Amino acid sequence: MKLVLFLIIIVVHQVIGFDVIREAFELIDENVNPCDNFYRHACPLYKSGIFMLNSAYEDLMYSIEAKFVDAEWNNLDVEKTFKRTLYKELPSIDEFIANVYLSLCQDIDATHSQKEAFLLWVQNTKLDHGGEPCIFDKCLKPLAHDKNCTRAAANLRNKMDFETFDIFQKKWRNNFDYAKTNLYGVNAILEADVRGGIVRIRNLVQKYVDKLSDWIKETPWAINNKADNMILDVVNQLYVHDNLGISLRKNLDYVFTIEQNYLKCLRDTKQSTELEIFCMLMACSGHYPEREDIDFFNPFNAFNDHPHLHFSYILLDMAEKIKNDAAFLGSVGYIAGHEVSHTLIEDANNLQLLPYFSNETVQCIQGQYQKTCDSYKEISCGAVDNQIDENGSDMLGMRLAYSVFNDEYDGSYEEDKIQLPDRTVNLQQLFFYSTAFVSCSGLKGNQDVRDTHSPWHIRVNAMMQIPEFRQAFQCDAESEMVKSFGEECVIVGKNAPQTRK
Ligand SMILES: *[C@@H]1O[C@H](CO)[C@@H](O)[C@H](O)[C@H]1NC(C)=O
Ligand SMILES: *[C@@H]1O[C@H](CO)[C@@H](O)[C@H](O)[C@H]1NC(C)=O
Ligand SMILES: *[C@@H]1O[C@H](CO)[C@@H](O)[C@H](O)[C@H]1NC(C)=O
Repeated sequence: MKLVLFLIIIVVHQVIGFDVIREAFELIDENVNPCDNFYRHACPLYKSGIFMLNSAYEDLMYSIEAKFVDAEWNNLDVEKTFKRTLYKELPSIDEFIANVYLSLCQDIDATHSQKEAFLLWVQNTKLDHGGEPCIFDKCLKPLAHDKNCTRAAANLRNKMDFETFDIFQKKWRNNFDYAKTNLYGVNAILEADVRGGIVRIRNLVQKYVDKLSDWIKETPWAINNKADNMILDVVNQLYVHDNLGISLRKNLDYVFTIEQNYLKCLRDTKQSTELEIFCMLMACSGHYPEREDIDFFNPFNAFNDHPHLHFSYILLDMAEKIKNDAAFLGSVGYIAGHEVSHTLIEDANNLQLLPYFSNETVQCIQGQYQKTCDSYKEISCGAVDNQIDENGSDMLGMRLAYSVFNDEYDGSYEEDKIQLPDRTVNLQQLFFYSTAFVSCSGLKGNQDVRDTHSPWHIRVNAMMQIPEFRQAFQCDAESEMVKSFGEECVIVGKNAPQTRK
């Protein structure tokens, strides 16, 4: 019953711009003590859908998609042909192209130049090396003169070596979807005007970078290994990607270049269902600049592509609309902290950006996640190969967010409380709840072996690393959450490990 209520509230509030964190308090299970299992207290099993934020934003996402049904980039002829082709009924690509050429060759209405054009499309997409004139047997134009069409088609067939339709289909479903996902995302951001959200995140990231800079200057393992200045430099390169014009242009260029090639191929050859498939294959197999690798729309996404930090539409929307700073810092702030931290956290055995990273710190972080996993395993956790990136970024990200929260409120947590039916939530608690809410899943936590992140309930319950959690919920020493705490891992700062003097 409550779930239904929850969704109705959200639908209503979307119209006026809703604060998803406030709404999420509907989910809490008061029968689970926050000190026993904070995540399942905030995000009960089977109550919040697969992922609470996705369902909360579902209607908004549909309405954005609906807005762009008629957009040209969403109605590409090449994609229509791609979608309606019955691949299962076709032989291999090489065979298919040879057969189409055979029909064209035998068609008494087809002109010589149409046959030449057909062969040139194959030559340029498949046999050509970077626009240089063709050489030796890779020049296909003379084939158009062969009046023995079976021989010409067989000859052509032997020169090609296309991938299988299966591989082609998978690759291009993905490519079209990805480009359109980006276009939805950029357009959604531009339409909805979340500039306020962008500025809010950008300012926060600057605070994180300043904090990290201060901490690194005092970090014994960095100083002792003469790595501090280089780490400082790397951290100071970070910035929030907010030039949406560039993202828009790159993705539009990508899809429209393919579309133009498709239409040009059809003009050059002849209109028929088979030639449409042929031209779709040619247009897609051409040499294109990579589409921009961003993923703005996928409902809820942020990533570090050092030095750029990317935030998806939902996160920007949250940054725009969550009123309370404690709620903002616990949710979007935690995710932004995680992304910023990706620049700094490295596997000591496989350094990429940094000259040195503390192995002791790595052991401490992994130790905590192992301990949290031992206490809170639902289906599985800890299955991914021992690599540090995600666990460490969570831990440092949380600490950055909490540290900014602390600067801002400085112990005055009682103003602007949230009233629940039988208690009030103060701002310090609100911070922690917000972290759980951005990750609410009603399904049992399972380690996806392809995913390097720990499952969400582990990520959130590892918040015990913030010593103030215990204070916020007044957890006693015997509670599960306190018992799942290993030792405090100070990653950077004056209390971080020494690692040789
Ligand atoms: C066309 O060429 C094939 C060999 O590639 C040959 O078997 C066939 O007899 C030729 N047809 C004619 C009409 O010459
Ligand atoms: C880090 O610690 C692990 C485990 O103790 C060890 O196998 C590895 O060699 C260490 N790496 C470095 C760079 O010291
Ligand atoms: C996170 O911690 C768990 C538990 O120790 C570990 O098994 C897993 O490999 C770690 N994952 C990453 C990405 O570091």
